[in-house]
Amino acid sequence: MVMPKSERDLARNGDGGIYAHVVGWGMAVPDMILTNHDLEAIVETSDEWIRTRTGITERRIASERESTASLGLRAAQRALDIADVLPTEIDLIIVATSTPENIFPSAASLIQHRLGAVKAGAFDLSAACSGFVYGVEMANQAIRSGSITTAVVIGSETMSRILDWQDRSTCILFGDGAGAVVLRASNTPGGVLSAVLRSDGSGADMLSIPTVGSEDLSNSYFLASEHRMFKMYMNGSEVFKFATRVIGESILEALHKAGLTLNDVSLVVPHQANARIIQSAARALKLDVDRFVSNLDRYGNTSAASIPIALCEAIEQGRIKENDNLVFVGFGGGLTWAAMVLQWGVPPAIEGFAGSRIKRQRRRASYFLARWGMRLQRWGRTINRFTNRLLGRSEQKD
Ligand code: COA
Repeated sequence: MVMPKSERDLARNGDGGIYAHVVGWGMAVPDMILTNHDLEAIVETSDEWIRTRTGITERRIASERESTASLGLRAAQRALDIADVLPTEIDLIIVATSTPENIFPSAASLIQHRLGAVKAGAFDLSAACSGFVYGVEMANQAIRSGSITTAVVIGSETMSRILDWQDRSTCILFGDGAGAVVLRASNTPGGVLSAVLRSDGSGADMLSIPTVGSEDLSNSYFLASEHRMFKMYMNGSEVFKFATRVIGESILEALHKAGLTLNDVSLVVPHQANARIIQSAARALKLDVDRFVSNLDRYGNTSAASIPIALCEAIEQGRIKENDNLVFVGFGGGLTWAAMVLQWGVPPAIEGFAGSRIKRQRRRASYFLARWGMRLQRWGRTINRFTNRLLGRSEQKD
């Protein structure tokens, strides 16, 4: 009997197949910093409590002029510069977010337009803090099937807008920011080697942000419970237990699918929720905690944005080399969780590279035209409406 090859064997041996490689990355965080000491003036808490229970010291908060789409756009523009890809080359844009600007249009469509990515499909993906890994896997599958060549996957959040700033058990944990990667088809084996995506909706009430379609709206439970429309509710200790269990399990499962073991892993880029969750996962896997990227001291939990932000910083710090095996692991509302193994295929020399001059100028022109094109279209529609109204009135008079 011929045994099926593992996904990793197929990827490594080269079978004339198509592989999805990360070729660009970028992040964007607001300038405004909210420290633990600042929080002491908002809720009954202390810098010492927050640091020892979570590992967080400060987080970024979006200004009134910043949004999920504007942060995501900046991260995507940086990733396109590194990848040296033109907006017109993008086939698909996925934004993983729990804080979209609208129910529709999607943040992905807003970003698609502002990039001038005129040939791209775009949609938002809701899988809470696991959303970025889900999004990369969706893009990977689309690339490997041959249906697309280039995808941009963004995790972007403005968590500060859905926090209950009177609830000290949640408002101290989260922050705003965005991270993005560009994935491209290649015949070079490597890139995304395997992924495990999971969900357990029985834990839906452990972490939630109710919105307009919520069935809870129509019953007294909603009014009587702590759940508030557009505000986050979380059962912290239950989420903590769930997270520590699924991180290890899903990493091992994704490695098994890729035909690798923990010894082959150079770096784990986990969702940044709590330093104690990362330490506990490292202990359970008997991995040195230094092999986990951790930057939540400076950003807190940025939900779907946390993994790409941590990835960007790890690259910047020279912690990732060509051919390294990386693991992404996320967990959050749903409940959802996801792990992914990637073989990094981009030489480190690319760091700091901002693309060829001509392509860079074409990207800038595309962003400029998209911005002004949108304004002109809106003005045009207003003038049309005005003219039609005038004509309509005069026709009626006639
Ligand atoms: N400052 C001071 N005290 C606080 C506090 C704060 N910000 N938040 C909670 N407390 C208090 C509680 O009221 C409780 O007091 P009590 O003993 O008098 O009732 C005490 O601290 C302990 O609360 P507990 O919830 O048991 O703390 P904890 O050690 O479990 O830490 C979390 C709380 C939220 C930090 C922790 O459960 C956690 O990180 N959970 C996972 C959250 C997460 O990752 N969410 C996102 C998933 S994507």
